[in-house]
Order: sequence, then C-alpha cells, then structure tokens
Amino acid sequence: MPTKVEMEKIVSLCRRRGFIFPSSEIYGGLSSCWDYGPLGVELKQNIKQAWWRAVVQERDDMVGLDASILMHPQTWVASGHLEGFADPLVECKSCHLRWRHDDLEDNNCPACGGELTEPHLFNLMFKTSIGPIEEEANIVYLRPETAQGIFVNFQNVLNTTRKRLPFGIAQIGKAFRNEITTGNFIFRSREFEQMEIEFFVKPGTDKEWFNYWLEERLDWYVKLGIKKENLRLRQHTKRELAHYARECSDIDYLFPMGWAELEGIANRGDFDLVQHVKYSGKSLNYLDEETKEHIIPFIIEPSAGVDRSALAFLCDAYDEEPDKEEIRVLLHLHPTLAPIKVAVLPLSRREKLVAVAKKIYADLRPNWMIQYDDTQSIGRRYRRQDEIGTPLCVTVDFQSLEDEQVTIRERDTMNQIRVPISELRTTLTAKLSGEAFDTQPLWTTKG
Ligand code: GAP
Repeated sequence: MPTKVEMEKIVSLCRRRGFIFPSSEIYGGLSSCWDYGPLGVELKQNIKQAWWRAVVQERDDMVGLDASILMHPQTWVASGHLEGFADPLVECKSCHLRWRHDDLEDNNCPACGGELTEPHLFNLMFKTSIGPIEEEANIVYLRPETAQGIFVNFQNVLNTTRKRLPFGIAQIGKAFRNEITTGNFIFRSREFEQMEIEFFVKPGTDKEWFNYWLEERLDWYVKLGIKKENLRLRQHTKRELAHYARECSDIDYLFPMGWAELEGIANRGDFDLVQHVKYSGKSLNYLDEETKEHIIPFIIEPSAGVDRSALAFLCDAYDEEPDKEEIRVLLHLHPTLAPIKVAVLPLSRREKLVAVAKKIYADLRPNWMIQYDDTQSIGRRYRRQDEIGTPLCVTVDFQSLEDEQVTIRERDTMNQIRVPISELRTTLTAKLSGEAFDTQPLWTTKG
C-alpha cells in the first residue's frame, strides 16, 4: 500500500534540525524561495553526487557540462519559451490575488469568492538586463530549464569528445520560473535546481531509448531507498504534451499532497536542434559513418528536480516509532544520501573518554561527514542522530579504555556490535556500503 506523511511534519523537521529555512527569513521571507541549511546542503549535495555518479561517472556514453545561466536571448526565441512558456493568469477584482486559471475549479476567487478577470498569458521567465544600460536590446532571461545550455553546446561537445551516437550530455544547475501558484514547501519554487540529461540517438531508435530511460530512472530512485509503491509512471495525454515533446511520461511520487511529478522523461525528437540551426544559422548535424549521411539526432530527455528529489527522499524516509512513553522520529535515509554518515559519542565527558573519542573523530573525518556530540544523555544523542538520518553511531565507553573496542549502533534496527578501534574504519565502510549487521549483535534492546 502506498504511504504518505503529513507535509507539516517534514517542514517542521527540516526547520528544527537545519535542513531547510525560508529564504531571507529575517526580512519576512521571500515567497517560494528556500535556503538549505547545514544538513540540507549535505543532502542536496549527496543527491547530486549520486545522480552524477550513476549517469556520468559509471557510463561510457555520457559526458557532463556546466553551462551559464544567462544565455543569448535568441536561445529563448528558438526554444519557443519566449512565445510559449506561459500560464493563463487571472486576477481577483476584489482582493487582487492572482491565480493560474487552469488550476481553478470555477470562475471565482478561491480566497474570497470574488469575480475574476479574463485569463491572459503570463510568461514564466524572469527578465533582467546585461551591462550597465537597462534597455530592450540588453534584455536577458534567467534560464527556465538547463536543457538549452546543452543543445547549444551539442557541436562543441561532439567536436571535443568525439562521441558517437547514442550518447548523452548531463548537467546539474539552477533554473528559475516565475510560477503563478507555488507552495507545497520545496515542491514548486521560483528558484530550483534541475538534473537534466539530453540523450542523443539515431532517429528510429528513439522509442527504444525512451523506454530504456524510463526504467533506468525509476530504478535510480528505488536503489536509493524510495519505496516502489510510492512511485508510478504517468503518460502525458496529447493535450498535456509540451510544445517540443512527441511523447512524455512523468515519474510521479506520492507526495504528502498526493501523486505529483518528480521527474519528466520526454522524447523531444529533433525539435530543439532543428530550431537552433534555424535561428543561429550554424550546422548542428552529425555524420552517420555507416550511411555517410548527415543527420539531426533525436533527443530523449530525463529531467529531474534536485529539490523535488530531496522532498521525496525526506518524505519516504520519515518514520515514527513508539519508544517507551515517547515517539522515536527517524529518517531511514539511504547511507549514500544521509547528511551525516557517522556520529562519534563518548559515553560521558570524562577526559579519558573524550581523548579517545576525539582521536576517532579526527581519524574518520577525512572519510565521511561525521559529527562529534558529547552533550546530554546517550539516549538523547541517539535520538538526535536518528532524526537526521545518521546511519551509524560509534560510542566510546569506559570499557573502551581497557579493551580498545567501541560500540557501533545502527539507526534502523538499533542493534549494537562491538568492534576493535583498529578495525573501525573498515567495519564502518562495509556497513555504509550496505552490509547488514550480520554478526551476533551485543544488544537488540532499544537504546
Ligand atoms: N527541460 C524539461 C523541463 O524543464 P519540466 O517538467 O518543466 O521539464 C523538469 O521540469 C523537472 O524540474 C520537474 O520534473 C521537477 O522535478 C523540476 N521542476 C520544474 N519546475 C519546478 C519548480 N517550479 N520547482 C521545483 N522543481 C521544479
């Protein structure tokens, strides 16, 4: 059965523990913009690294790119965004709130019931100007998708890497949309990050590659811990298809507000390259060595959101368990994604214990993001680590001073094993890469 958690619990945990804060909060915040705190930035970084590893580092047929956010304004004429990247906007004649017309059930203002204006198209791109003179000729846009930076560099990458079809270009970066309706925390914001692949294939093989990427991307979320039942594929209807797409399917996640898009996978055909050839006058074709023909490749685009992935991973990992009279809140984050991998906890602040614990902390820091904590009771410290998803805690106790062994405590099962300090790094490495606590645990009691 699919399961979902309440959004308030996620928002509250993120705020309380320093994952995500409202942007410029001391000034009252800025609508639909968010700041990632010390733990949030680690989570986000880990998501991006896991994606990059899976789609670039471990593949022969992919290379990376980091294009600039500001692009030549003709890019957006060619891509169709200047003309078509717009939502129908209506305004309430009484309270002056603005709404997306296609989100409304009837023709009244959802806030006050007032009469609404006729819809008009509102372009979602943020405008700014380049150089010291603000005039029409200097207008540029904050990119609404990272994809166009890839298309305009197709020939550069082809010439410098000598890649042959099929191959892809992957990019992670900020995108900006002046969304009319935002909300649901970081699900829809005005500044967000995308992880996009543009995969160039021979026309005729596009359907096969489209299906390949659906599977591949779905698998990625499952391997990183998302429950299969909380994911689904949803094919776009003809009416929903973006102007560039021949076919598109969303990977939906069961977010707290219901099923919604986590990632879109589109068959963009040759739309983008053809448009850029037309508007730039430059050739963007590919010599097929078998047929000796110049062709324009088709493009399969798996396009994911970093922020939506972070939200999905957090929602899926969130859990509450009864624990004596209290509730244990924990995040079952995959070790690859957990912001802190290991916490080192001396049982007390006695000098001798602290000395050993600090030495272990210093020794392990080059390997992982780890925390040292010696405040409050050991039980409370375990809870704090559970709540931020730290997979393993290392406890140094008085016995450690005699036998040079420490306790490793696992987040999900709360099982504990004792290991020699000399073997700690090796054991932690094995546990973080997924090895179960298969040795007989010392304790299975709650602790
Ligand atoms: N290049 C294709 C493209 O941009 P999209 O479906 O508009 O397609 C792709 O966006 C992904 O970017 C979405 O699946 C979502 O994860 C993320 N995304 C889009 N708009 C967003 C927003 N306003 N806030 C947060 N993430 C967003």
